[in-house]
Amino acid sequence: MLSLIKPTVEYEESYRSYIRELGDSERYPFPLDFEFDDFPELVTRLNNLSLGIGLPDGGVPNTTFWLVDNGEIVGVSSLRHRMTDRLERLGGHIGFGVRPSAQGRGIAKELLKQTLREAGHLGISEVLVICLKENIASSRVIRANGGRLESEYAVPEYSGLLQRYVIPIDTGPA
Ligand SMILES: CC(C)(COP(=O)(O)OP(=O)(O)OC[C@H]1O[C@@H](n2cnc3c(N)ncnc32)[C@H](O)[C@@H]1OP(=O)(O)O)[C@@H](O)C(=O)NCCC(=O)NCCS
Repeated sequence: MLSLIKPTVEYEESYRSYIRELGDSERYPFPLDFEFDDFPELVTRLNNLSLGIGLPDGGVPNTTFWLVDNGEIVGVSSLRHRMTDRLERLGGHIGFGVRPSAQGRGIAKELLKQTLREAGHLGISEVLVICLKENIASSRVIRANGGRLESEYAVPEYSGLLQRYVIPIDTGPA
């Protein structure tokens, strides 16, 4: 069963092997870039960001989730609690990625589905997800979860076009 959890120290080994698998490829979503030599410190940092503690300048509270299957982290998502002008253009509410050896099995669809549920619990009724147009797998995952393409545009920060999707969701109780 695929369970969405908040970071805990028990998954240190699995987290380290996830990062090893990523090798030199881009780590996405952004919390995968954080220093993790001191693993308990990483877990504290992630859970603090969710509470709005230790935010960088201009940052917003952000919850990191791990999707766990049989004791292994198979996917990571990041949920921003609110938008700024910059995030509306570049980051969106949710970023997600799947462990390379677990890709191609529908895990990202489930990861986004469960993260959208968490967004609903935060009272976010319209989730914004932004991805590069060339990232076909990502756009399929977003569309499969009800994403409606709202616009496509170029930004100086990336060479390709960005796609901006909106996903309306229920904001009922947990
Ligand atoms: C994008 C990503 C999360 C997809 O994860 P995944 O678990 O393999 O995705 P799924 O198995 O749920 O597949 C989703 C769809 O993408 C398709 N797909 C998967 N890999 C693909 C590829 N390389 N090229 C084209 N389509 C692909 C699948 O066939 C499926 O399409 P379908 O719904 O028509 O069957 C994963 O490739 C990843 O982690 N990439 C790096 C990080 C990233 O790009 N994140 C998204 C940023 S917005």
